[in-house]
Amino acid sequence: MDNSGKNSGGAQDVFYSPLKDQQRLTIVKGKGIYLWDDMGRQYIDASSGPVTCNIGHSNPHVIDAMHKQAQELAFSFPSSARNKPNIDLAKKLTELAGAGFERALFVSGGSEAVDMALKFCRQYRYATGEKRRHKLISCQPSYHGMTIGTLAVSGDPAFEDIFGDMITMAHKIPAMMTYLASSPPDEETYALSCAKKLEEKILELGKDTVLAFIIEPVGGSSSGAIAPPEIYFNEIRRICDQYGVFLIYDEVMSGSGRTGKFLTSHLWPHARPDITVLAKGLGAGYIPLGAMLAPANLVDKLSELTGFNYAHTYNASPLSCAVAIAVLDEIIENKLLDNTNVMGNYLRDKLEELQNKSTIIGDVRGRGLLLALELVACKNPRKQLPLHVNPIDRFKQIGQELGILFYGRRSNKGIYGDPILIAPPLNVTKDDIDQIIDLLSQIIEILETELRNEGLI
Ligand SMILES: Cc1ncc(COP(=O)(O)O)c(C=O)c1O
Repeated sequence: MDNSGKNSGGAQDVFYSPLKDQQRLTIVKGKGIYLWDDMGRQYIDASSGPVTCNIGHSNPHVIDAMHKQAQELAFSFPSSARNKPNIDLAKKLTELAGAGFERALFVSGGSEAVDMALKFCRQYRYATGEKRRHKLISCQPSYHGMTIGTLAVSGDPAFEDIFGDMITMAHKIPAMMTYLASSPPDEETYALSCAKKLEEKILELGKDTVLAFIIEPVGGSSSGAIAPPEIYFNEIRRICDQYGVFLIYDEVMSGSGRTGKFLTSHLWPHARPDITVLAKGLGAGYIPLGAMLAPANLVDKLSELTGFNYAHTYNASPLSCAVAIAVLDEIIENKLLDNTNVMGNYLRDKLEELQNKSTIIGDVRGRGLLLALELVACKNPRKQLPLHVNPIDRFKQIGQELGILFYGRRSNKGIYGDPILIAPPLNVTKDDIDQIIDLLSQIIEILETELRNEGLI
């Protein structure tokens, strides 16, 4: 390893996948939707980092709250003593989440929160005498994190190849990939047929052995913001109820306002989950934070039986909780849910205009400001680019050269398509979106020319 080069990141660099023909940036400053590198170049943060920086960078109110709390008390261990910011954040968050989410447990990020949700379900069944229930079901493709436990529920065969002998992988059912499905029937029929796969899997595994089904209400980078309709969620809720299976919504990416409701599940009154998991936008990139939300009846019953005593050192750190309170205040006081709906529609319209003009944007999808466009070789009939071509990396590289950064990583070796997430902060303006669209159209034009010259489209 050569650490002497001008662009070397030193001892930590090799842990991140190498960038082909591309310089890894060193980011030194952020303000609003912009980032700057150590050479003074400015970039638009068009996907809010990995769909995290939901209120933009360097928000003065959040910085102020962080500063005040750090001066007061930075750390306290919640298993040993309560801390005030934890109490206040739990109150604020459960009020925003509403009925069915009266209890909140705070951890350090999305994977830890998903892990807690899985442990909670298991401990509950164990404590209530249903010890046979231990099997987990999730979607293929999907992403739920990278701890040993969450790799097991993430739907990516690459994880299964490496870790399958070591951990018990969850059972998978196909995700609802409307665009990928070749000639799907009408959306409702397709949604019900995908939901039916859950019922079939529960029966195949043995109905009193299944513990939980976990799903992202809007997909992330593994599926490119797939957004199944209400009828799908109503049906999986019905199936989970029928077979006593816990329904977990992983809203690590889609929650905290990203889809225009505080929780995406607020869109579906008949399809509320048992447990919801949040992270990313909850701390909005200012501090590491995740949360598990659960109903009082389950949590309080478990607490009477065995309790749920799994703690990480940084659970509910006062500093993280105080910052998250300021983040939530910013979202509410500035009416960012409304802005997300208005700007989400505007961005979507603009992306669809771009799609109509381009030969390589096959699909535009998502909810609110969690949108994606999918790159293809041919729109009609839909044809993917060959699997050896990685258009996501090239797209991001061109964007970086033009001064705009996007999030997307090739999951499942590209077999489910090549989506790029377009997810600017929830306080994005029309002018910001116009700039993003202008740069996006330049990227698409360059990429199209290159792919055409290489005979790939
Ligand atoms: C839906 C979803 N679940 C879980 C995770 C894992 O969260 P973290 O990276 O904070 O561990 C992510 C991260 O991208 C995610 O998008």
